[in-house]
This record gives sequence, C-alpha cells and structure tokens, in this order.
Amino acid sequence: MSTSTLTTLLASVRSALATPSSLLPSTSSDQQARLDLIDLLPELNAALIGDTAHLRELAWSAIHVLPLAAISRWKLASHVPLDGEITYHELSSKTGISSPLLKRILRHAMTSRLFLELPSGEISHSPTSRLLVTNDGLAAFVDLHTETALKSIAHTLDALERWPESTDPREGGYSLALGRGGETSVYEEVAKDEGRMVGFGRAMRFFSEGEGYEVGSLVEGYAWGRIGKGVVVDVGGANGFASAAISKAFPELEMVVQDIQDMKVEYPGANIRWMVHDYFTPQPVVGADVYLYRFVFHNLYDEKAVEVLRAAVPALKKKGARILINDECLSEPGKVRWRNERAARGLDAIMLACMSGRERESSDWEGLFEKADPRYKFLSAKIAPQSRLWLIEAEWTG
Ligand SMILES: C[S@@+](CC[C@H](N)C(=O)[O-])C[C@H]1O[C@@H](n2cnc3c(N)ncnc32)[C@H](O)[C@@H]1O
Repeated sequence: MSTSTLTTLLASVRSALATPSSLLPSTSSDQQARLDLIDLLPELNAALIGDTAHLRELAWSAIHVLPLAAISRWKLASHVPLDGEITYHELSSKTGISSPLLKRILRHAMTSRLFLELPSGEISHSPTSRLLVTNDGLAAFVDLHTETALKSIAHTLDALERWPESTDPREGGYSLALGRGGETSVYEEVAKDEGRMVGFGRAMRFFSEGEGYEVGSLVEGYAWGRIGKGVVVDVGGANGFASAAISKAFPELEMVVQDIQDMKVEYPGANIRWMVHDYFTPQPVVGADVYLYRFVFHNLYDEKAVEVLRAAVPALKKKGARILINDECLSEPGKVRWRNERAARGLDAIMLACMSGRERESSDWEGLFEKADPRYKFLSAKIAPQSRLWLIEAEWTG
C-alpha cells in the first residue's frame, strides 16, 4: 500500500468517525457494507501492525480485561457520578481502594474507552463506562465473565490435563480455581447464592439482546401458530425471558418455564407457569406440544445431552411431540462471516472452559437424537432468520 493510499484511507476514516451517524446503515446494502467493514477491521489492523505485533498483542489480550474485572468487582462505575466528576481521592474514600491503585486501573481502562480523565485530574464517565451503571444486564454479563468465566479459563488447560476425557462439569477449570478440584461446578456455585442466580439470569437475558442472538428470531422463526392452544415447556429457561416473548406473540400458548432453581420474574400479561425441575430427571409436564431447549445443550457434552433427551421421553405424547433446540451450529472454518465464526468459536471455548460443554455441527445434532432414542425423528436444522442461532427440531414418533 503506497503512502498516498494510507493518507486517503486515514482521511476517510477520520471523516466518517467525525459524524458517527454516517456509519448507521439505512439500506440493506449499507448493512452489508457495515458487516463487511467489521470483518475487515482485524485484517486492516494486522496489515498495519504486522503479524509479529498481532501475535504479541494477542498474547497480551487477557491483561486488558484486568481493569474491567476490577471495575466490576469494586463497583467503581457506580461511584462515578453520571452527570459530573469525581477525584481519585473521593473515589478512594468511597471504595476503600487506594488512589494510586485506582489511577493505575482507571488509566489502563481508559485505553479501552472506559472513563475519561479531565484536565482537572477528575474522572468522569465515557459513554461506554456509563453503560455499566445504566444497563444492569450488561453489568451482570461483565461480572459473569470477569469473575466466574475468567477463573475457569485460567485453569482450563490444567483441568484438561488432569481429567482429559471427562464430561463432568465438576472436572473443569472452575473447581481447580476454587481449590476444590473435582468437587463443584459453575452451576452448583452460582445456585448457592441468590444474588448470583439473579445476575446469571440477567446476563443470559442481556446475551440474548446481542446482535444475532435476539429472542425475536426464535419467536418469528418457528411456526408457533401451528400449535394453536397448546403447551410449550421451556427447559432450562432461566428467568423466562424467551417464554415471555413467545407468550406475548402467541397468547394462546401456555408456557412452562423450568430451571434448576426458582428464577421467577413477573412478566405482565404473559401466560407462564414456573417450575423447579432438574432436566436430568424425568420430565414432569406430560403431553406438551413442544419442549424447547434454548442454549441448554451447549452446556453439555454428548453423553449428558443424551441423558437430557432421554429424560424427556416419558412425557412425550404419542406421535407429534416436538423437541425444539435453539442453539449455535458450527460451520466449516471460513464458511461464515469472520465475526460470526469468532463469536461461535468463542462460545464453544467458553463452554469448554466453564461448563464441560460444546457447540455442535449440524450432523452432531442429528447424531444426538439418534443416540438418545431411535423413536426421535430428526426433522431439520436451519438458521433462524436474521440470527446467528439455529432452530433444530425433532419429532417423537413413539
Ligand atoms: C445457558 S443458560 C440458558 C438460559 C436460557 N434458556 C437462555 O436462552 O438464555 C442454561 C440454563 O440451564 C439451567 N440449568 C443448569 N443445570 C440445570 C439442570 N440440571 N436442570 C435444569 N436447568 C438447569 C441454568 O440454571 C441456566 O438457566
């Protein structure tokens, strides 16, 4: 690339960033261009800094999460006024963290667009750090990843060496991180603490608001109308946000939200019944039309996933009960957009690190049903409209 190309590119980028509204897509070709640009940015960065620097920065990337973890653990964002400033000294008195340490943490965080330091030396929010105060789902998502997931990730390779063939979620990085190798799992620890359960539910809801993960694709992408007045069981449904969205669009349906813990939330107008249920035990809601598993199977290795499918069998009505899975489906490398592949493979890595689970390819889904019971008839696996998630469906023919 010649210098003039670089200069021209720089001017275009500066001018676009000076009016951020110009970067909002207004047509479908704009949207394609937006997605293409997002995919090209890492390529551009690597081309500009070179492969060696790219690898150096990748090896360093975890360190940039440390200030975010500190901000989340010590609730630093909530002590900074939303419409004003605070000195390091005042922030120190409010949080009990020393001023020099706060300065190190926050100045590092500023390189990730979190907080601003004014010429007076005071701290104010940046648009990004404000979100940690104004968006409780995002704050819960950050907390889940900087506390629970990060601990698991740091010990994942040790766990894989210690228990190479294990499918037990206790034999993962999290139990090693807590110094209780093999004795506990992420879900067991989260379930012990009501505050963490609420945070987990919020984090899941927030995750499902992300681009491509919206619950709207499940509502619009499946033929719920075909059921009419029927019953849908949302297994591992957390705080029921997906069921609430389905119920709002299809009020004739009765939704039953099951989870290992009571995570009940009021959704005015939604027709939801709540039930504590362990999905490894026989399904108590007999004769429902659809058993929905959204983001449940990726938490489980195959033998556990098969157990869950078998536990549903005693409840399935003869001919016609459907199992509907709303989850990721991995593509061959390089076959989908970089950003989508990166997100799916990242989620697969989180499942490996935190849950002893995995993401699956289309043929893996079909194989799961076959292994669970030959009376399951695999119907289809297709990507939901405008989504990164798939709808995978089987029918009970027993
Ligand atoms: C990844 S979350 C998915 C939540 C929700 N379905 C969604 O779409 O975001 C998995 C859910 O399974 C629940 N879970 C874990 N173990 C379970 C078990 N043995 N029985 C029932 N639910 C369980 C968790 O509490 C959590 O809410």
